[in-house]
Amino acid sequence: MTSQSDQTVATQERPPLVSMRSIHKSFGSIDALRGVDLELAPGEVLGLVGDNAAGKSTLTKILAGTLVPDSGRLQVGGEDVVFRSPADARRRHIEMVYQDLSLCDTIDVAGNLFLGREPQKSVLGMKFLDRRQMHRAAAEILAGLDIRVDSTRHVVSNLSGGQRQSIAIGRAVSFDPQILIMDEPTSALAVAEVEAVLALIQRVSRRGVGVILITHRLQDLFRVCDRVMVMYEGTNVAERRIGETSLEEVVRLIVGGDILAPTERRDHGH
Ligand SMILES: Nc1ncnc2c1ncn2[C@@H]1O[C@H](COP(=O)(O)OP(=O)(O)OP(=O)(O)O)[C@@H](O)[C@H]1O
Ligand SMILES: [Mg+2]
Repeated sequence: MTSQSDQTVATQERPPLVSMRSIHKSFGSIDALRGVDLELAPGEVLGLVGDNAAGKSTLTKILAGTLVPDSGRLQVGGEDVVFRSPADARRRHIEMVYQDLSLCDTIDVAGNLFLGREPQKSVLGMKFLDRRQMHRAAAEILAGLDIRVDSTRHVVSNLSGGQRQSIAIGRAVSFDPQILIMDEPTSALAVAEVEAVLALIQRVSRRGVGVILITHRLQDLFRVCDRVMVMYEGTNVAERRIGETSLEEVVRLIVGGDILAPTERRDHGH
């Protein structure tokens, strides 16, 4: 692994943060992934797009340890890894914000940020939840990401969609990930809320975190992504630097596995 002091070395000389190779995954008779490759560099925001059922969520769930691939190779920081659970991925500093957010509606903001790892205090040898510490730490996490919520005591069901999305991202970021996956974080949001979440993605990536952003809002790609990877029916069919493509081309690549350039088709075994 490269040490912190080597950070000025050109990124090409370092192993990618993530490398997935020939990933296959079937669900019964459905071949959800038919040999997918993905690479991610530190601080890079990679847009992952493709039609419904193209395999985006399946691929990223494999990286997050939620699903186990049938075959393929996964490397993190140049080392081979095998994830059997999200806890395995978390140990490698990978976090995923799922589309359904997995927040607990009935508890407050701070409780959601610390769900399952609440700070405790010891009184007369017994463990108690340290609420003051929890709210203080929650406020710090949110302030550090410039996430605005009036109070960490609000129950999350009362928050707006954008605030809930921000809390879910804040929770993921608080685990100090090097890789953050977000599955359609802006799909259910109002315009101003989308802006806030996109700004949050930029702040996180500036910390050196590699971000994978799954989205159907293609205009978002051009706001925050460095690169876009297009999936089509369980394969990755194209990849572009964001400055070297256009909305029209991305749309064409998403809908038309059949009108790809012959070289790209050959590369992906079509
Ligand atoms: N747990 C599962 N059991 C059975 N089939 C599944 C499961 N998860 C995904 N699939 C199937 O795998 C294929 C890929 O699904 P996936 O959710 O990865 O697509 P996606 O690109 O994320 O689509 P969307 O844009 O609609 O979210 C689909 O045909 C889907 O029905
Ligand atoms: Mg999906």
